[in-house]
Amino acid sequence: MTERITWTSRWAFILVTIGSSVGLGNIWRFPYIAGTQGGSAFVVIYLFFVLLVGIPLLMAEIMIGRRGRGNPADAARNTATESGRSPWWSLIGWTGMIGALVILGYYSVVAGWIVDYFWKMLIGMRFDSQEVAVAGFAALQANPIELILCHSIFMALTVAVIARGVVSGIERANRIMMPALFLLLLLLTLWGGIVGDMKQAAHFMFDFKPGDINREVVLSALGHSFFSLSLGMGVIIVYGSYFKRGSSIAFASVWVALAGIMVGLLAGLAIFSLTFGYGLEPDSGAGLILQTLPLTFAHMPGGRIFGSLFFLLVIFAAWTSAVSLLEPFTAWLVERAGLTRAKAALSAGLFSWLLGIGVCFSFNIWSEYRWFEKNLFELLDFWSTSIAMPLNGLAVAFFVGWVVRRHVARDEIALSDRMFKVWQVVLRYLAPLAILLIFAHSLGLLA
Ligand code: PFF
Repeated sequence: MTERITWTSRWAFILVTIGSSVGLGNIWRFPYIAGTQGGSAFVVIYLFFVLLVGIPLLMAEIMIGRRGRGNPADAARNTATESGRSPWWSLIGWTGMIGALVILGYYSVVAGWIVDYFWKMLIGMRFDSQEVAVAGFAALQANPIELILCHSIFMALTVAVIARGVVSGIERANRIMMPALFLLLLLLTLWGGIVGDMKQAAHFMFDFKPGDINREVVLSALGHSFFSLSLGMGVIIVYGSYFKRGSSIAFASVWVALAGIMVGLLAGLAIFSLTFGYGLEPDSGAGLILQTLPLTFAHMPGGRIFGSLFFLLVIFAAWTSAVSLLEPFTAWLVERAGLTRAKAALSAGLFSWLLGIGVCFSFNIWSEYRWFEKNLFELLDFWSTSIAMPLNGLAVAFFVGWVVRRHVARDEIALSDRMFKVWQVVLRYLAPLAILLIFAHSLGLLA
């Protein structure tokens, strides 16, 4: 077997995995869901799930990748056969790889909206009243050409990074964009503290009121912890497959989870400070950052520069996540179909791009086509986050908890006896139970 390419160091692995984890999920999804789910109750439970279920599952996926040394399907198969189990466990990898391409299809369209707003800020467009801001967003949704153009630009950027390879593409892009992202985010938070209302934001996010907890808050917090850690899509498996032997999986997982939490909280603090500071409501839904923030920027000194910087930051965050969504299937095409990396990246990207075009149409000329009362965008989002991710996460927990032989897992996850036991208990019982709950809820079984 030829030597598998690896990240240049364990910190490089941590950096790229944080790059995958921190994305539209933190900056676009987290604030709007926290905003609609009562703030602190959601935030506290989300943190709890990241620590309790997220870290053990991250460890499990990294373990499969590093043990099986291959694209998600082959990594799962190799890990299974080493334990004397059926090669059919490769299905875990397949569902992940396909799911990742489907997510990329609509993720790239949402990232395209951000590209569009970045451009609009740069050329000095002003959204100076609530009506203008809302109408501006509606006009974008109604224009398939503009949507497709922005989606295509973003997809081309993603394919370009993947085509360059694991180290000189993915790792290098992350080395540049992640520090820039942290810096911009700190700036934004600082700015939020100066012109916004940080006190009220902190109060909204952290003043824990147990009375606000209800089933919906718990379940959306669990779902979001999955989405934000990139779990259940083969992404962590394939990144783990390039992780050097001998580096601690637990150490890396804890770092990834903590950094993801930190960025999410900082983004939330910044966005809510500005939202409250300008007298806006935090619960305006998916349009929160696209409708309220341009309005904020229009009334802020230096808002044009600041707005452009902000959207650039979101593009960076989305870009490093999108890259991670394209890698699992690209790796399969290279390793199994013998394509060059460039051809593999293009082919996988083409699939998501075409799907994304359908998503662009689903807001306008195809908006009357609905399945289960959802348009294509909503359907794909629902299918991937509410069905594919939890099911796949459940399968991974079951696989590593019950199917993989103990000594194999033990060998890869070098932990003390006690910590290893805790990890196993979470994978065997706690994680499956929690996941079954969100799954049942999303199918309406518990409604
Ligand atoms: N974690 C990314 C975000 O929060 O934006 C989204 C994501 C990336 C989800 C990769 C799933 C995935 F496999």
